[in-house]
Amino acid sequence: MEKTKNPAAGLRQRLRDETRPFHNALEARLPLARGLLSERHYRDHLSFLLGFYAPLEQRLQAVAGLDEVVSSLNARWKTKRLESDLALAASTSSRACRMEVDLIHRDEAIGALYVLEGATLGARVLLPRLRRAGVLPGATGSRYLDAYGNDAGRMWESFCTNLQALPQAAGPGVINGAVDTFRNLLQWRKRWERHA
Ligand code: HEM
Repeated sequence: MEKTKNPAAGLRQRLRDETRPFHNALEARLPLARGLLSERHYRDHLSFLLGFYAPLEQRLQAVAGLDEVVSSLNARWKTKRLESDLALAASTSSRACRMEVDLIHRDEAIGALYVLEGATLGARVLLPRLRRAGVLPGATGSRYLDAYGNDAGRMWESFCTNLQALPQAAGPGVINGAVDTFRNLLQWRKRWERHA
């Protein structure tokens, strides 16, 4: 079990503390985050994410009771958005590799969702940069990066409210799920780079 640095802090703060090193390491590796804003890098980013999201979301969709604790769950899945963005970017996911995902229990699933929902905050940072660089294809822009449009703030806040409403006993499982998911994502990124 992961040790929290400050067990008395709220779940949201603990999640942020425990996963920050992974976030920083990942961000440092992502070409788009480092200002490499070409169409090739955008396509590669989508392919990389699809290989991670598709198997993970498939697993998460099979977790019983998740929709009882996470609001608007159906609107949060991103696999189809990534697929349609890749099709628009004239790429059929050049590299169709997929990550392996273990069975996930409900609390861990919430932790995994924390990672995926948090990624929408980073997407909001990348979106205007890519727009300015003229990289997004077609009038529809990016269905993944702009997943929630004007509702982005509301979707994140409602997810955080869902987190705070969980019973205290759920905390360790949620944190483990988030840390594992970030660790897997970082591993996936390293594998992706090795085969680039
Ligand atoms: C797939 C890749 C990414 C994942 C999984 C991810 C995950 C997360 C998570 C979980 C949070 C929530 C932290 C919290 O609890 O407040 C977050 C916040 C954030 N991320 Fe990322 N992120 C990703 C990529 C990026 C990138 C590329 C950028 C910048 C270009 C970025 C910038 C941010 C910012 C600015 C915040 C908000 C920080 C705050 O308001 O405190 N992220 N991200």
